[in-house]
Amino acid sequence: MNTSAIRHYLQFSDFDADDYAHLFARAALIKKKFKAYERHQPLVDRTLAMIFEKASTRTRVSFEAGMYQLGGSVVHLTTGDSQLGRAEPIEDSAKVISRMVDLVMIRTYEQTKIEAFAAHSRVPVINGLTNEFHPCQILADIFTFIEHRGSIAGKTVAWVGDGNNMANTWLQASEILGFKVHVSTPSGYEVDQSIAGLRSNASYQVFKDPMEACRGADLVTTDVWTSMGYEAENEARRAAFADWCVDTEMMRVAQPDALFMHCLPAHRGEEVEADVIDGPQSVVWDEAENRMHVQKALMEFLLLGRVA
Ligand code: CP
Ligand code: NVA
Repeated sequence: MNTSAIRHYLQFSDFDADDYAHLFARAALIKKKFKAYERHQPLVDRTLAMIFEKASTRTRVSFEAGMYQLGGSVVHLTTGDSQLGRAEPIEDSAKVISRMVDLVMIRTYEQTKIEAFAAHSRVPVINGLTNEFHPCQILADIFTFIEHRGSIAGKTVAWVGDGNNMANTWLQASEILGFKVHVSTPSGYEVDQSIAGLRSNASYQVFKDPMEACRGADLVTTDVWTSMGYEAENEARRAAFADWCVDTEMMRVAQPDALFMHCLPAHRGEEVEADVIDGPQSVVWDEAENRMHVQKALMEFLLLGRVA
């Protein structure tokens, strides 16, 4: 079987600006129908396998509820309750699982693992978070920005915190959708252009001072100081990141109508002050809800293409 023609969503750069314009329009329509209790079931009889090697609340609920709403069904697997945790080769798992389902979503550690799975899969594979990327989250975040403020092209996003999977994905998105990212991380936690998979450094600027990164930004965003899989570094990170807490002062130097985003889960008093995440500029609950709407559009796109 020729698996090279299958379209996967392993990182943000797997799609181009045109694909994203389609996805955002579809997500808006799908969301509207959901709010009106109108059925939208293009994926009847289709099955999604969800494989979790790390914990999740939003990703699981949004994919599972979303797939049922599209008329399909889901199979939920974790490392602990499957052969995945007992060292069955990833290639073998991919060959077996993809003979029985229509779509696979994976949350795992190294990006190379999801790439190996995709290379041996008969069906599209979606990245539900790896150490390097979190494309479904940025898809939801940009959709949320568009809902509140219109096109993100030409705007400035301030990233305050770890040079992690979220930061890398924001950077990829900036190259594709034509906006700027101001990045401020503690030293030792910088973004790495080659890991982020960027073509150049033209779409982002690095700032030592997080306050300077936020100055004039249209969107300020951050994430946990310690991502899943890095828990052993927790103490060192708490010390290194102490000045990278998004506070009301940082929001004050951003644009007056700047939004605040966080992919959640959040730690109030660490990477963000409660007054910011629970304040009027925060759109974190819309971001979380929009995971489901954009992922419904994504699953429809991967299985049916550009339906009108
Ligand atoms: N933002 C996000 O992916 O949340 P979960 O870890 O709860 O899935
Ligand atoms: N950077 C975080 C995101 C959690 C949704 C992590 O990888 O744990």
